[in-house]
Amino acid sequence: YEEENRVEKGGEAGGGRGGQEYGDVEGAITGTHGRHRVRRKRYKDPERRMGLIDGIALTVGLQIGSGIFSSPGVVTLNTGSVGASLIVWIFSGFLAWSGASSFAELGAAIPESGGAQAYLNYAFGPLPSYLFSWTAIVALKPGSGAIIAIIFGEYLARVIFHTTTADADHPHEQGLDGIPAWSVKLIACLIVVVISALNAFSARLGTRLQVGTTTVKLIALIAVPVLAIVTAARGKMPTESKQAFSSFGSLFEGSSTSPSSYALALYSGLWAYDGWDQSCYVAGEMKNVTRDLPRVIHSSMSLVITFFCLMVASYFLVLPPALVSGTNTVALDFGSVIFGTTGGIVFAGLVSFSCFGALNSQVYTSARLVYAAGKEGYLPAVFGRINSRTATPVTATVFQAVLILIFILFGSGFASLVSFYGVCSYTWYFLTVLGLVVLRFKEPNLHRPYRTFLPTPLLFATTALFLLVMPIASAPVEAGAAFLFMATGLPAYFLSVSKAREGLLGVIVPVKAREWCGGRNIGGIVRSG
Ligand code: ARG
Repeated sequence: YEEENRVEKGGEAGGGRGGQEYGDVEGAITGTHGRHRVRRKRYKDPERRMGLIDGIALTVGLQIGSGIFSSPGVVTLNTGSVGASLIVWIFSGFLAWSGASSFAELGAAIPESGGAQAYLNYAFGPLPSYLFSWTAIVALKPGSGAIIAIIFGEYLARVIFHTTTADADHPHEQGLDGIPAWSVKLIACLIVVVISALNAFSARLGTRLQVGTTTVKLIALIAVPVLAIVTAARGKMPTESKQAFSSFGSLFEGSSTSPSSYALALYSGLWAYDGWDQSCYVAGEMKNVTRDLPRVIHSSMSLVITFFCLMVASYFLVLPPALVSGTNTVALDFGSVIFGTTGGIVFAGLVSFSCFGALNSQVYTSARLVYAAGKEGYLPAVFGRINSRTATPVTATVFQAVLILIFILFGSGFASLVSFYGVCSYTWYFLTVLGLVVLRFKEPNLHRPYRTFLPTPLLFATTALFLLVMPIASAPVEAGAAFLFMATGLPAYFLSVSKAREGLLGVIVPVKAREWCGGRNIGGIVRSG
């Protein structure tokens, strides 16, 4: 049990690249037998082996994904100016930071697997906890999978349709720049089918991708600011950018005054920072929680915020603001303005590869979350089956793939899905952090190895509430859909509770990795969150 629990704790909550990236951090990819053994020898207390650097690498690696290559457009579009968009990027970073500190307090005080689900259960009881897992399965995981697939599709479609030669002086029209919308959806669907098929055939295929995608992300993150500075130093900034950066006033010229646009902009920025909740999983693993946990959070959040703001400023140095606000493929435009078509293709390649890796991990872990839910009786039992030939949870993988495809086909693109995802995720982030505040009063003596400064969760909860209320006006369809998806969990709760009475934490009880791969330990990870 210990071993499973440890592996499980290392991974990302049910849906991301965590387990796998965690492997990178330790120099041992979870999922390969040999390395797994090496790791066991090296660590005497496997539960607590994570140091400061490991923690930072894990958190940062999980957060940086598709968002920083796609969100700047929606942020700029909704804020209306360079200055206001930079502020949104900084603000959403700080919001993520305050969320991470709050989750860390919970993670250290309630060191159970399951993350938010466990804290919700502790603070409010089984129903909210169940609804959260339900949301993760039907909305959060497939929703984020769909977003990443669509970004992949947009980058690739623009390469295929040769619209990579952005001209800095003739910004694109808003939107997809002449690319048929169906082509993006088609590519997105194809990639989901391919990745799901790969995952259905082999449990280990994808885990090795991780080292590659991490390297690629780092290359892009370093290349963009360096290239932007060189471009600016050579006096090649576009006129509009020069103008925007010429004075404080012009930096904010054209800023939107509508609060609901800012809510939409924040959702986009927050998508890029999403994954910050992973800090609470780090807690259970740290050698010295009290000392290192705050350090991990503070260093990784300041690193990510710095990186992201540098990236966004770099885009603005090279591309006119109007061009940035019309594109979801800002890195491609960046590359093609500097190096022409080839540059655009190279950047598109980097980002698509990174999305491919992210989607693969997403499919891998989401399928296992569905599998666990099926096994514990929260979903029909067929989802809790392992295919005897492939040793993978095939039905669960297909189920997740179908949900992702539905989101791609019926969603109306990146910005809309990001708002939907934002409403779903911030409902639970809000309630979880509210739980922290409640527990401070209800259980003042609970042992808290790490205590965050109380105004932090209060600030987070207040902003999250704003984020939940605003879209009712600015994105009513997305908000409505989000609440509808979450509400479908209610009947499911009452149906499944009769079947699986003991402990709703079951959904995230560690997947018995050994059981579903015929007695071998493959280091599977499943957790909701
Ligand atoms: N920040 C990531 C990105 O920009 C998204 C993370 C999705 N959330 C998650 N918990 N895996 O692609």
